[in-house]
Amino acid sequence: QILPVILAGGTGSRLWPLSREQYPKQFLALQPPEFSSVAASSPPLSMLQQTLARLAELDALSPLVICQEEHRFLAAEQIRSCTSQPNHLLLEPQGRNTAPAIALAALLAQESPDCLSLEDSDPLLLVLAADHLITDTAAFTEAVRTALPLADSGKLVTFGIPPQSPETGYGYIKRGAALGTGFGTGFEVAQFVEKPDLNTAREYLVSGHYYWNSGMFLFHASAYLQQLSQFRPDILSACRQSVVSPERDQDFIRIDSVAFAGCPAESIDYAVMENTREAVMVPMEAGWSDVGAWSSLWELSPKDAASNVVIGDVLTEQSHHCYLRADSRLVATVGLDNVVVIETKDAVLVAAKEKVQEVKAIVAQLKAAQ
Ligand code: GDD
Ligand code: MG
Repeated sequence: QILPVILAGGTGSRLWPLSREQYPKQFLALQPPEFSSVAASSPPLSMLQQTLARLAELDALSPLVICQEEHRFLAAEQIRSCTSQPNHLLLEPQGRNTAPAIALAALLAQESPDCLSLEDSDPLLLVLAADHLITDTAAFTEAVRTALPLADSGKLVTFGIPPQSPETGYGYIKRGAALGTGFGTGFEVAQFVEKPDLNTAREYLVSGHYYWNSGMFLFHASAYLQQLSQFRPDILSACRQSVVSPERDQDFIRIDSVAFAGCPAESIDYAVMENTREAVMVPMEAGWSDVGAWSSLWELSPKDAASNVVIGDVLTEQSHHCYLRADSRLVATVGLDNVVVIETKDAVLVAAKEKVQEVKAIVAQLKAAQ
């Protein structure tokens, strides 16, 4: 049994000012319809809804979505409008990053299977980010199927993406030996490095031995908890206390907020994947993108004759390679190259395209000023 666990508690700060605290990236319909992995729909599906739609061929259980308490109605409405399955929405009083979020899912399955209508208290957790773009759903499904026997044998499977650039916002997986027969195209993980610096990322890229970590995983609940207990018993024990008596209120599942407040914040990548010896990798070529920053949306989107991506009411003159988006007013550019302009009702971003990773620093400034 596969229990999809969808992580939807991030902030998406590099896509400010479209992605906001109240309305982060995973709830936005960012993709131009051309890239939607599902048939054209109106209104277009949000990234969370696309993530749910992508599960159609997998014969999985009804997914568990984990998000922040403040986004519960947004999430519940988006889920309801695209699935007929019952909703399981686990609410975090505050974000503690992905290692605790996944631990909560694993512990709930093990200790309160009824709460999730599970028959099996040690399901395979298919951990997915709610904010990724995947253009080839069939290849995604195939990779998950390849991973099934590996995860069933107790391994922590990560899905590796052949890298295209020296991205520093990703984890890198060094491919080890091919696994034996019966395990399809799986590989040992020789090394896992989360978010290396630029020079290291360049070395990895040219070596040809590394893959990007997609941020998707498949493992038994028990296998993850075992590794977490080895490397971060502090996180495990705080999460265990948090789910002692989960409260179910229709779609929503609530945990002990005091216990969870005491949980250290860490990502699964640093907490477990960099340390474990139980990881294996299944390569995935499914048109995957993290859509992490405006530059990746520029890469992915259809462009006009001057290589500009133009969305909304925009006029350009002698401008090239720009990403220009107008939500509420006319935007006009003259003589701009490699610039991003995002116009919204109450904020306008103007940025050099190669510097857009730093948009998160603006969000940090805004937060500090609050
Ligand atoms: N529920 C919950 N709670 N979800 C969270 C939290 C949290 O506290 N923090 C992040 N998430 C969700 C995000 O919404 C996203 O869907 C996913 O977990 C991954 O978090 P990101 O913050 O986007 O991680 P990242 O992009 O920096 O890095 C991860 O993904 C990369 C690929 O996109 C890592 O796994 C990298 O190794 C990987 O390459
Ligand atoms: Mg991400």
